[in-house]
Amino acid sequence: MPVCFDEEKKVFHLQGKTFSYCLYLHPTEGLLNLYWGSRLPDGDIAYLLRSYWTAASFDLPPHRMPTELPTRGTGYFGTPAVCAQTQQGNDVTRLTYVNHRICAGKRKLSGLPAVYTESDDEATTLVITLKDELTGLTVEAEYAVLETLDALTRSLRIVNGGKERLTLTHMQSASVPLYGEDYELINLSGAWARERQVVRTPVGRANIRVESQRGASGHEQNPFIALVKKHTTEDCGPAWAMTLVYSGSFLATSEVNNFYNTRMSIGLNPEVCRWQLDPGEEFQTPEAILVYSAEGLNGMSHRFHEIVRTRIVRGAWRDRVRPILINNWEATYFGFNEELILKIAKAAKEIGVEMFVLDDGWFGKRDRDNCSLGDWVVDRRKLPGGIEGVARQVNEMGLRFGLWFEPEMVSPDSDLYRAHPDWCLHVEGRARTEARQQLILDLSRKEVQDYVIEAVCSVLRSAPIGYVKWDMNRNMTEYFSGDQTPDRQMETQHRYMLGLYRVMEEITSAFPEVLFEGCSGGGGRFDAGFLYYMPQFWTSDDTDAVERLGIQYGTSFVYPPSAMGAHVSACPNHQTGRVTSVKMRADVALGGNFGFELDLNKLTPEELEACREAVETVKSVRETVQKGQFTRLDSPFEGNNAAWQFVGEGGRDVVLCAYQKMAVPNPGCHRVFMRGLDAQARYRDAASGETYSGAALMNAGLPLRPARGDYSSWVYRFERV
Ligand code: DGJ
Repeated sequence: MPVCFDEEKKVFHLQGKTFSYCLYLHPTEGLLNLYWGSRLPDGDIAYLLRSYWTAASFDLPPHRMPTELPTRGTGYFGTPAVCAQTQQGNDVTRLTYVNHRICAGKRKLSGLPAVYTESDDEATTLVITLKDELTGLTVEAEYAVLETLDALTRSLRIVNGGKERLTLTHMQSASVPLYGEDYELINLSGAWARERQVVRTPVGRANIRVESQRGASGHEQNPFIALVKKHTTEDCGPAWAMTLVYSGSFLATSEVNNFYNTRMSIGLNPEVCRWQLDPGEEFQTPEAILVYSAEGLNGMSHRFHEIVRTRIVRGAWRDRVRPILINNWEATYFGFNEELILKIAKAAKEIGVEMFVLDDGWFGKRDRDNCSLGDWVVDRRKLPGGIEGVARQVNEMGLRFGLWFEPEMVSPDSDLYRAHPDWCLHVEGRARTEARQQLILDLSRKEVQDYVIEAVCSVLRSAPIGYVKWDMNRNMTEYFSGDQTPDRQMETQHRYMLGLYRVMEEITSAFPEVLFEGCSGGGGRFDAGFLYYMPQFWTSDDTDAVERLGIQYGTSFVYPPSAMGAHVSACPNHQTGRVTSVKMRADVALGGNFGFELDLNKLTPEELEACREAVETVKSVRETVQKGQFTRLDSPFEGNNAAWQFVGEGGRDVVLCAYQKMAVPNPGCHRVFMRGLDAQARYRDAASGETYSGAALMNAGLPLRPARGDYSSWVYRFERV
């Protein structure tokens, strides 16, 4: 049973394939968390209470004990998981156990993305209800054990069962105490064009916040943290990890207390979210996914990938191989017309590309990024036959057609803004801060949501569009709404996200065959919440092959290759000025959803031939890349080499990608040590015909052919024979 309650010992034992999570109902101290780690045979764990000796101490039990739902004002001194302020102005909250229930299946979260199941036997849910007797605040802590996927989800449903309005000030979806202090924190930090760099920091005796207050999960931090031990590597050692299924501001913490124990948490960011809860009202927090791996960081990522790929991503494209596309952004920027577009599409078709994507600049009078967002009407100066005309001609060439939108934005220079100046996030009487000369539509308002839904849908209805790139190019300022009362203004960021999720749900379900790709100035909103609506995301505006090694490596900590857009772009690279071969660029892009972002007509015949070969290779490996198990082998953050591998479903097809950044004079030979193969089986290298035992490839390694020059890459395709 994935969830058991031992009535006598008062222990809830939650069990996945390899983990246990044990809660204890303490007679006076409420719900405690005694254990999260490798799977235990049973829940006989209450003896651990001895390690939280409650003898006289300066500190009170809530701080000393491993409280599962810490609150404020009753003796816990860290970041609370739940906190509600009363009309009297205090925020003392004391939660005591009321009851619990265990049931098969997993509930959908109203209006929010979450892990889903396809049948009730995929999950078992435990709901523990706690209550603050004085205020009537009721908290339902909901845990779903996904036994086969080997993960736990956790969210809170908070109900005001009292007679007075309460203000929720803290809503952490998960907050878990871990024994000891010798942890290291891993987070994915970055910036535009430098997304998701892997950072590992000893937690020391300090509190660490990994957060976004931007109204988007953001480039700067990803909604993910892992705590690991010093000896944890990619392949061994424990990792405790959390990600939030949410695309807005978030807070993840690691806090070490004065008893040398550590707590990790993730949830909405209290700096920018407070929620008024009137009597009878309820608030649903976003969902956190919790993964424990005893097999290092790759083990952690394998679990996240499987969940995201199969039980976050939905719809027709979940299980389909993704098309190879060409996008005109870096080829033309805003300077295109129909003739140029068709020329690029034709050259792409000739090398086997399957989809043409028309990026920014097709609507209003958008010759620069200073106008027209919100006016989703084709610019006939550039496209005299409209979107319908260009899409039809692209289709006639045998390519599908895709289109860029930035639906959440409005340019001050637009008909939409002139008609509805109050439809953007703003504060009356204050200047509206522009970024990229645009403002953000107030999606907390229903009428604005409806406008966006109809604006996008009417374009999608008007032409044979098979793909949408959904961009978002600035973060929130003046994140308040003209539509809310003063006391509810701090709800705006979260209400915006709920509005955005409604908009995306309506549009994606109206066009189930369209492939949607999220984008936010590259990878500025790459999170599980977004992937619930759109199965892939543009990983970064940085298409430099060497930079992409780190960006894709870091992204893979949580997100599978099938979620990552990866393109071959022009050289010198537009972000770094670096020159790399087409082969290097293609071998890196092969690790995600492959595409091009250049004008193929400008390449030399040799470069074009290399692109054609790359398309052929991608077509032969993409099933394995997109649906197989991805494992990191050599980290670009730790040396001159990088490597990763994909093992296809059933283990027959294996793709190994290896890279060297800088040339090394008089080099030794670098070997790549593969993982997860069948030690007894033999694997044939498709290029050379040579065979190797799985045991040899994993333990003796594969020597890479020596490389000359900077930026080298190798792609091997093996078949188990
Ligand atoms: C930012 C995206 O990341 C780019 O790929 C491109 O679509 C531009 N926006 C267009 O404005």
